[in-house]
Amino acid sequence: MEKLAILGGQPAVTINKEFRWPAISEDIVEAVAEMVRKGELSDTEYGDATRLLEEAWAKFLGVDFALSRVDGTAALHSACFAAGAGPGDEVIVQSYTWVASVGCIMAAGAVPVFADIDPRTYTLDPADVERRITPRTRAILPVHLWGHPTEMDAIMDIARRHGLKVIEDASHAHGGAYKGRKVGTIGDIGCFSMQASKSLPAGEGGMMVTSDRRLFERALLLAQSPGRLKLHIQLEEHRPFVDTGFGGFKYRINILNAVIARMLLPKLEERNAIRQRNMDRLSAGLAGVTGIGPAYTAPDVTRGGFYGFPILYKPEELDGLPMETFLRAVNAEGVPLKRDRYPMLHLCAMYRRQNPLGAGWPWSFSDATRAVTYQPGDLPVTESVYPRLLHIESWDKAEPSEDLFEQYAEGIRKVVDNARALRAAGVIPTGV
Ligand SMILES: Cc1ncc(COP(=O)(O)O)c(C=O)c1O
Repeated sequence: MEKLAILGGQPAVTINKEFRWPAISEDIVEAVAEMVRKGELSDTEYGDATRLLEEAWAKFLGVDFALSRVDGTAALHSACFAAGAGPGDEVIVQSYTWVASVGCIMAAGAVPVFADIDPRTYTLDPADVERRITPRTRAILPVHLWGHPTEMDAIMDIARRHGLKVIEDASHAHGGAYKGRKVGTIGDIGCFSMQASKSLPAGEGGMMVTSDRRLFERALLLAQSPGRLKLHIQLEEHRPFVDTGFGGFKYRINILNAVIARMLLPKLEERNAIRQRNMDRLSAGLAGVTGIGPAYTAPDVTRGGFYGFPILYKPEELDGLPMETFLRAVNAEGVPLKRDRYPMLHLCAMYRRQNPLGAGWPWSFSDATRAVTYQPGDLPVTESVYPRLLHIESWDKAEPSEDLFEQYAEGIRKVVDNARALRAAGVIPTGV
């Protein structure tokens, strides 16, 4: 058996390429430089940079309205507001996600209600969603976590039966599809992040899409300068607000980011194809390896975004080898495997109970809502899966190299094969 790198052997990964996010080509650099030279730095009205980006997104997804935002968080807040989630309302969401999927609900003044996840896809479990519906539920917010689409037929069926809005958080899943339909277009509203680590890395930026004019206009009213409101507000119920800029927030995208995003959008499918190929290589290399569960993809979906490749660690199959020891050994082989970095929000101080910071925080409408609190054990699947989740993130790195992802699989396999030797060597976990 080959000696583990952590015990003095040679690392399995020999290809050592610099990480290359984001893929900003020279034409993009030049386009941005030209705008800076000309002093085009802010889009106070509704200029070409913003308009062209939104038109391109609407066309790409086949929706009526694409509203660019300063970031994905702002897109989600706009969506919650547009959907009418406010004081006294509840929105159902998963606990295992980036905090923006949940904070946006609080920012709108509503209460996040956490539901459990599917143990294979780590996305919302529709059956648990249905159990958590109350008369106060206003919306469901499925997150297509790590690029895997949520079970949308079931979510939409529940939503329609109970009269709820659906806001998709597709920040990890650009270009993904559920039964042939692009994510972000299945619910009432779809939201995307274009932050620098995403598959459409504009630097910072977000997109909210919908085909419902009323929702689009409400999102504009929350956070847009009057110039654009005059251009786009048509519905009688919204007209009185046009002159004042109503919501007072300013969520428009920075136009330099808008230009980057527009120029990267046509490359998204190609970049997704590279990531898919890398993921396929890694999955093939890890098939049947004891002790780990590589990312699962349901047969009727297409992953998008490829924001990460989750791996479930199963110490019970490896003589109880502690996960930290496993990780140290895998890292020593040159594989960039990490612990999952999202917390379980239902057990964090900010979300465990209502109004944790006192009056003034949006989630302070406790008199209008039932008390919603959480304790360990409330979300059994999330709590069992999350502490054992690991990640590889570098999807674009292997682009010209055919072998990097095979080498990652080899490094993991090597540690699994040597689990007993590793345990016997007494490598000390360091709390990675
Ligand atoms: C699932 C999810 N939703 C929303 C966001 C928020 O996006 P942004 O960082 O652009 O505000 C992120 C960001 O990482 C995310 O991962």
